[in-house]
Amino acid sequence: MTVSLKAELHVDGKVFELPVVQGTEGERAVDTRNLRSQTGLITLDPGFANTGACRSAITFIDGERGILRYRGIPIEELAEHSNFLEVAHLLIYGYLPTEQTLERFSQSVRLHTMLHEDFKRFYGALPKDAHPMAACSAAVGALATFYPDCLDPRDPRQVEISVHRLLAKLPTMAAYAYKHSIGQPFMYPDNRRSYVENFLYMLFGTPCEEYVVEPVVAKAIDLLFILHADHEQNCSTSTVRLVGSSMVNLFACISAGINALWGPRHGGANQEVIHMLVAIRDEGMTARQFVERAKSKDDTSRLMGFGHRVYRNYDPRARVIKKACHDVLGRLGVHSKLLEIAVELEEIALSDEYFIERKLYPNVDFYSGIIYNAIGIPATMFTPMFAIGRLPGWLAHWIEMHADEDFKIGRPRQIYDGATLTHYHEAERH
Ligand code: CMC
Repeated sequence: MTVSLKAELHVDGKVFELPVVQGTEGERAVDTRNLRSQTGLITLDPGFANTGACRSAITFIDGERGILRYRGIPIEELAEHSNFLEVAHLLIYGYLPTEQTLERFSQSVRLHTMLHEDFKRFYGALPKDAHPMAACSAAVGALATFYPDCLDPRDPRQVEISVHRLLAKLPTMAAYAYKHSIGQPFMYPDNRRSYVENFLYMLFGTPCEEYVVEPVVAKAIDLLFILHADHEQNCSTSTVRLVGSSMVNLFACISAGINALWGPRHGGANQEVIHMLVAIRDEGMTARQFVERAKSKDDTSRLMGFGHRVYRNYDPRARVIKKACHDVLGRLGVHSKLLEIAVELEEIALSDEYFIERKLYPNVDFYSGIIYNAIGIPATMFTPMFAIGRLPGWLAHWIEMHADEDFKIGRPRQIYDGATLTHYHEAERH
């Protein structure tokens, strides 16, 4: 909603009025879209730290107060009462489904879990030690070659089928990547199982033995997927939007999102957290020594799983995951040295002036890996699991962007600060 407030900008002795836009939770933004045509100025905001790229009705975050809501519903309530497919429906369609609607949606997703048989050769061509994120992004991109009749972002039916295919196939793709890396046969999906159980079955099952999923494990993974399902304009979601703004097909956009998520400053942090905890355990370092390294300007180490661009308070997802971590490990009877180290790191960091001053708190990645680890999921699979969780958010944003009346290709500007006109024959050579 646009309110009648205006911001004034004084430039070269002239006053320009800029509209102020307000969201439903009271956030306000100066609308600068006509700034350049009116004043010749552009905005400069490295990392888009203070730039709203769009309006969105999907997820609300208040980083100062540590609030996260999907479609208005607090994350804590969804974590307690919902399940991942219901949350996916909520994000993508904008409302909670009735029992019947959810069953129809789940059934449609179930129908698409299998991969084309040729994907076996596709995975076979990858090195055994290929990171599963690379395999997943390549496999998702390759879906565009298998479904050339479903690539038009303006065709609602093609989009809907692609959305259901992606939700269904990404867990199969991630599980295949893992099976390939350990040399075990690919397990076809078993569609009698729930979404999460099916994923665990494809990951851990073998054709030789019956695989029974422990309910506590399935519940924990479902919870983690819910907590990862969306986080408004984060790096990978913004990537999906930016790539999608060129009108390329959905598969290409999600493949790009997976790649963006892989980086250690983003979703790749969950794998890095475990590496950090294992290094502290195995190298005989104390938690305090590591915190000192993370603070030092002469050391590139960061306290992984700490800090967030938006949260200047405890990440509400980390709060839920920390509790779940204690619960799940307790129920599985796992005593984890890594959890002890993590708790100690948190205590030290939260009372350390460096972290207090910069408002650095545990984020979603700090405790999630400890749960994965206790369940027996290898560290390289942590970020693919983040991707499975985040997929509904990417899809919801992609759909919302295409329906937006302000939709246009994403194309930031820049302030050029390179060489001024230099003729070819005068240019320095080195
Ligand atoms: N350990 C030590 N110092 C840190 C950390 C950390 N984890 N995070 C930020 N800082 C310091 C940073 O060095 C800087 O200090 P100074 O002002 O003296 O230069 C200050 O805090 C601000 O950091 P920034 O990098 O400018 O902040 P940002 O908002 O651009 O970055 C972040 C946010 C998440 C990339 C960063 O906090 C970080 O690298 N954290 C570790 C990686 C991580 O856990 N990432 C997962 C993020 S949550 C899930 C997700 O998005 O996937």
